[in-house]
Amino acid sequence: MSRQTCCAGIVFTICVLLQRGRMSWSQLQPRRAYDTRVNVTAVIEELLTGYDNRLRPNFGGPHLPVDMEVEIASFDTISEVNMDYTLTLYLTQYWVDSRLRYEDFYDAPGDFMTLPGDFAERIWVPDTFFANDKNSFLHEVTEQNKRVRLYGNGSIEYGMRFTTTLACMMDLHNYPLDTQNCTVEIESYGYTMSDVEIFWKRKKDSVKGVMNVKLPQFDIMAFDTQVTIESLSTGDYKRLSLSFKMARNIGYFIFQTYLPSILIVMLSWVSFWINHEATSARVALGITTVLTMTTISTGVRSSLPRISYVKAIDIYLVMCFVFVFAALLEYAAVNYTYWGARAKKKAKKYKENHTPVKSPETVFSNEGETDELRMSPILSLRNRQNKYSDADRMTPAFRMTSPGHRYGYVGRPNQKRPQQRRKVLQNLKSRARQIRMALPKIRDVNIIDKYSRLVFPTAFIIFNAIYWCYYLFI
Ligand SMILES: *[C@@H]1O[C@H](CO)[C@@H](O)[C@H](O)[C@H]1NC(C)=O
Ligand SMILES: *[C@@H]1O[C@H](CO)[C@@H](O)[C@H](O)[C@H]1NC(C)=O
Ligand SMILES: *[C@@H]1O[C@H](CO)[C@@H](O)[C@H](O)[C@H]1NC(C)=O
Repeated sequence: MSRQTCCAGIVFTICVLLQRGRMSWSQLQPRRAYDTRVNVTAVIEELLTGYDNRLRPNFGGPHLPVDMEVEIASFDTISEVNMDYTLTLYLTQYWVDSRLRYEDFYDAPGDFMTLPGDFAERIWVPDTFFANDKNSFLHEVTEQNKRVRLYGNGSIEYGMRFTTTLACMMDLHNYPLDTQNCTVEIESYGYTMSDVEIFWKRKKDSVKGVMNVKLPQFDIMAFDTQVTIESLSTGDYKRLSLSFKMARNIGYFIFQTYLPSILIVMLSWVSFWINHEATSARVALGITTVLTMTTISTGVRSSLPRISYVKAIDIYLVMCFVFVFAALLEYAAVNYTYWGARAKKKAKKYKENHTPVKSPETVFSNEGETDELRMSPILSLRNRQNKYSDADRMTPAFRMTSPGHRYGYVGRPNQKRPQQRRKVLQNLKSRARQIRMALPKIRDVNIIDKYSRLVFPTAFIIFNAIYWCYYLFI
């Protein structure tokens, strides 16, 4: 009897244990590693039932920390006229919402579930905005560039890709030798620090891809992350800022502005080597260079906003303009002094004309005699006429010494007397004088031109040295 009851009892307990075992087995089933039998749709629906996406996680409790991560996809444009710049970036925000914990009843493959952007509309997400944003758009090709990653422990990773135009007040005092500091300001729109506090996820490492960015007009020298607190009338807000230090590439301006300006200034100096009687040539050169400088400065200004202060490029262009203008004025001075002197000589000559005999000095004088030749700006013509007149008006001394010259060298050399030797010397001297006179370049240089040839280039070199030292090293 006792044996039978004992057996029955053992069978009963085994049955009970088996029953329990089966029950707990079926309960444990979903907690195992990925199992196709689990209905994921049911899991998500389960998470969202009773979920109010208007309430932040820990509502009414401690503030919610939200971590930020930024990756720069591209820097698109930097506009001085609008004082802004455009970039495309990936922004990822991390926070924990304990209401979305599912690790207790579902073990997701790879630890998380990746859900499309629409899911973000059904859960609470931070109201992050860019404080200096002018215009932004989310990319929608081929689908909205947004994703949500849901971890079993309730961690959420919310990523998106968008293009934004951000204001950047540039200081153009040193333009185009300037460096700019442009920022990305991230802030929560509605939640003060007591509700939501934003952080950089890993300090400076939260920003990626900055050094891979290539810009046509700028080099990104450095970037920096900061955290500040904005105190507004509605409360204190945490603000994350990412700043870029960008140095402008001078290359474009060297070829577009500086080099042409330098060449135009040098071109204006050509005038000092042109005979001062060639009025039309020198005036044309002066006016052309002045007008070209005006054109260059107009071109530069068209790509800039109408800033009232003086920029580095303005100083350079204005100085080049001053140099070119001074070269034109220099010609005015040369011309004035020349014609003034000539008028005086004319008056003198008028007096001398009343004496019938011409002194050898007036014959030799370069000015005063050849008025009609002076009027011709063509050098060759003047030279030809000069040669002519020189032959015509050979001094008696020269005419006499010419045969002497023949005798001196071809004739009888043994009959050298001190008188003859003197004659030879005289002959040589007058020859030299004649040659000197035949060179119009030496003869016609105005004293102002002579000094300008030295003063203008020297002044320009000094100006350049000061300018480049000041803007590049100070
Ligand atoms: C998963 O759950 C949903 C909602 O509970 C239900 O409509 C669907 O039929 C289930 N699918 C499977 C394969 O069990
Ligand atoms: C949640 O899980 C993820 C992945 O395992 C981990 O990186 C994260 O730190 C966890 N979060 C919390 C709050 O434990
Ligand atoms: C930009 O300017 C801010 C404020 O002056 C400064 O704190 C930051 O370090 C600068 N950024 C860089 C990259 O130098």
